[in-house]
Amino acid sequence: MPVDKSGERVREMFGQIAPRYDFLNHLLSLGVDHWWRRTAVRRAPPAPDRPILDICTGTADLALAYWRAGRGTAPVVGADFCRPMLQRAKEKCRRLRAHGVRLVEADAMALPFPADLFQIVCVAFGLRNIQDPQRALEEMVRVCRPGGWVVILEFSMPRPSLLRTIYSWYFRWVLPRIGQAAAPNRFEAYHYLPASVGEFPPQQYWTQRMEAVGLTGVSAQPLSFGIASLYLGQKSGQDSERSETPLFSG
Ligand SMILES: C[S@@+](CC[C@H](N)C(=O)[O-])C[C@H]1O[C@@H](n2cnc3c(N)ncnc32)[C@H](O)[C@@H]1O
Repeated sequence: MPVDKSGERVREMFGQIAPRYDFLNHLLSLGVDHWWRRTAVRRAPPAPDRPILDICTGTADLALAYWRAGRGTAPVVGADFCRPMLQRAKEKCRRLRAHGVRLVEADAMALPFPADLFQIVCVAFGLRNIQDPQRALEEMVRVCRPGGWVVILEFSMPRPSLLRTIYSWYFRWVLPRIGQAAAPNRFEAYHYLPASVGEFPPQQYWTQRMEAVGLTGVSAQPLSFGIASLYLGQKSGQDSERSETPLFSG
């Protein structure tokens, strides 16, 4: 049965698990997710002063990784359509004194930003949750500056067959039980995760789509034997040294 990814359901599901999201995320990945985000930032490092956008920001971990890498000189915007997740993100940014991170309630399929604004537009473990990921990809490219980078981190199926078997078993039997026990929710969100990963298409699917929306130099790098993959693509065109468009009008 296809996974129900209607915006309302996904928003409500993340709203229910928001209070335990960080704890479970780091527990279930054994902390490796931090390293995946740091690898993404290292592969597409920020330049000073120019803004960065993290869509499906959740509790802002990738936004914060970029803010740290830019040493606070590059403004970072984290956008998500789930208020309870944004609330956690705000508390975390306040606690870390990450005042350069702005958090915005926005749907990834209709971003409230002008074209050609951000030097980097990134997403971690968000694309597979979006109802129309192709539309979100087009939006990422639209708001990215010419010469800027689109950065995608996603789960994928590991290549080695033994690891694939262990991984499938862990995802199907262990992870949903720990998830449901630690963050009870009526959507059984941690059953949804393996189902949504299982239906997630192979690496070429994303690299082809990234090329189809005009990105160049598209690459896919398996991380941790392919448990996750990092995709990079550059928006073609020359970056103009025009004056900065304000991030938010009004
Ligand atoms: C698995 S979490 C990932 C959070 C974070 N990026 C991370 O790395 O931990 C997915 C996030 O995507 C958000 N999301 C899903 N569909 C969305 C959409 N159409 N627009 C904006 N946010 C969306 C959810 O609210 C949730 O916070």
